[in-house]
Amino acid sequence: MTLRIDSLALAAGLAVLIATGPALAADGNAENGQKLFFGTAQCKTCHSVKAGQKMIGPSMFGVVGRKCGTAEKQRFSSNYKAACEKAPFAWDEAGLDGYLADPTRYISKIAGQTRRSPMTRKTPKAQDRADIIAYLKTLK
Ligand code: HEC
Repeated sequence: MTLRIDSLALAAGLAVLIATGPALAADGNAENGQKLFFGTAQCKTCHSVKAGQKMIGPSMFGVVGRKCGTAEKQRFSSNYKAACEKAPFAWDEAGLDGYLADPTRYISKIAGQTRRSPMTRKTPKAQDRADIIAYLKTLK
């Protein structure tokens, strides 16, 4: 009897995991993303969130949906430009996820040659990336 209850509980637990698992991975928390951006992820060292304000990197205002290479005043790296010419892209969630995980790898793959990205910051945790992307989506 105990065994049966345990396995029922286990099955229920699994069902909950299956139902909520993917949604959790895809849904970012913008508030936490903002904290990361200005805190431990250090995006603010190189990026402003004000429209058109270039720092070391381009402004993050309006970055979601922005076409590659079109950020105001920014002089992009030659490898970024090569990638953008070869396969023009606009930043969507999937692209940002790949880029934030490993900027050098993401851009080099599109460009077809490996060059170190001047955006040196990697965000290895998927949940952190989802949260940061959720925050970037609010910058419009
Ligand atoms: C050391 C400075 C630096 C840090 C830290 C940094 N970036 Fe960048 N970022 C850059 C530079 C420089 C570029 C332009 C890349 C190029 O020219 O290849 C860039 C490009 C980008 C782009 C592409 C913008 C566009 O218009 O194509 C995004 C998105 C981005 N950064 C997000 C972030 C986020 C989010 C963080 C924090 C996790 C971050 N960056 C941390 C320097 C930085």
